[in-house]
Amino acid sequence: MPPGLLTDDFMTSLADSAVDLSEAKTLPAACYTSAEFYEFEKEALYVHEWLCAGRESWAAKPGDYFTTQIIGEPIIVSRTLSGELKAMSAVCQHRAMLVAEGSGNTRGFVCPYHHWSYALDGTLVGAPAMSRTCDFDKAAYGLPNFAVEVWNGFVFINFDADAAPLAPRLTAVSEAIAGYDLASAEGPRPDPAAKLPWNWKVMFENNNDGYHASRLHQGPLHDFVPSGRAEFPHSEPADAGFLRFNGTLHPDASFNATQRAVLPIFKGLSDEARSRMTFANVPPSLSLVMMSDMVIYLILRPDGPESLELDTGFLFAPGAMAAPDFEHRLDMNVRASGHIIAQDMHVDELVQVGLRSRFAPRGRYSWQEGAQGQFNKWLIHRYDSTYKRMKTAS
Ligand code: FES
Ligand SMILES: [Fe+2]
Repeated sequence: MPPGLLTDDFMTSLADSAVDLSEAKTLPAACYTSAEFYEFEKEALYVHEWLCAGRESWAAKPGDYFTTQIIGEPIIVSRTLSGELKAMSAVCQHRAMLVAEGSGNTRGFVCPYHHWSYALDGTLVGAPAMSRTCDFDKAAYGLPNFAVEVWNGFVFINFDADAAPLAPRLTAVSEAIAGYDLASAEGPRPDPAAKLPWNWKVMFENNNDGYHASRLHQGPLHDFVPSGRAEFPHSEPADAGFLRFNGTLHPDASFNATQRAVLPIFKGLSDEARSRMTFANVPPSLSLVMMSDMVIYLILRPDGPESLELDTGFLFAPGAMAAPDFEHRLDMNVRASGHIIAQDMHVDELVQVGLRSRFAPRGRYSWQEGAQGQFNKWLIHRYDSTYKRMKTAS
């Protein structure tokens, strides 16, 4: 797109995506391809919303830490020696080297470049050969700290220190998934992130599209969760998340060739929850796919207008992983899920190609795409308020 995409006309046109689904149009293609719009989204979404960085279990013990990047911002999540969970920038406050990579256990972070050293909470504790430097106050050069909150065992960070807490704006989602008790669910650290060549919203929408289930995924690995049983509980645009349910043809359905759960069922699930798949979304960064025996979590971390990194993890009922046949049973689910995910990834990649086209539409929705309507309302609520704020400030 040419520079200057963000005009009053363009921003007003977005409202066509936030009306009732029966009348709504899809978002303009530029929202998925434009570098200018991506910069706008950083301001509208990423520097004010709660962003999932990983699981709390990845930093369980004092001294544990892990690193990640969201919108290109290098981030450390650490557990201090007194047991407090902290999140901070990984950017050295001397000359911007990253003070940590990967994950591990440490007493602090020593920048490899000139050996400034930081405590696990980001406090600058050592800076060699700085005694001749005028007015140098170590206290002013700690790693910038971020707000941190744990929800259902997921670590969320917020670049905005004044952001309202997350959980009070997620009550409907929390209630619907309470039976999973995800804070105590177990699962391995995901494989290294996949780097994917499409806009983060293409990914988020695909994971919440009830319409394609009976079409793209038609066949014995998916037919037990038909599009005709899609449900979209009401959410308000100001909520921090929204739900999608999809009824299944039999209880305890799961993604493998038997179409039934092969791993232990999460103990707290109601009969209702066992008769559906639940999709729980905390945009812009976390999307959960929940079956009776397994939860798949997607952590979306954009690194550009047309690319993202994706962490894909699995969670199981406590103790499930200790069973001697666990790996074999899991393999059944992973193989089937992999088949379905490959179909989705193919579509995501080609949707991004289509969105770059001069013939990309503002299309219309089926009732089975109710989650796209909720997502649009969530987005446009934030786009609108940010655009107004930016105009007032300029
Ligand atoms: S950049 Fe980190 S100590 Fe110099
Ligand atoms: Fe899919």
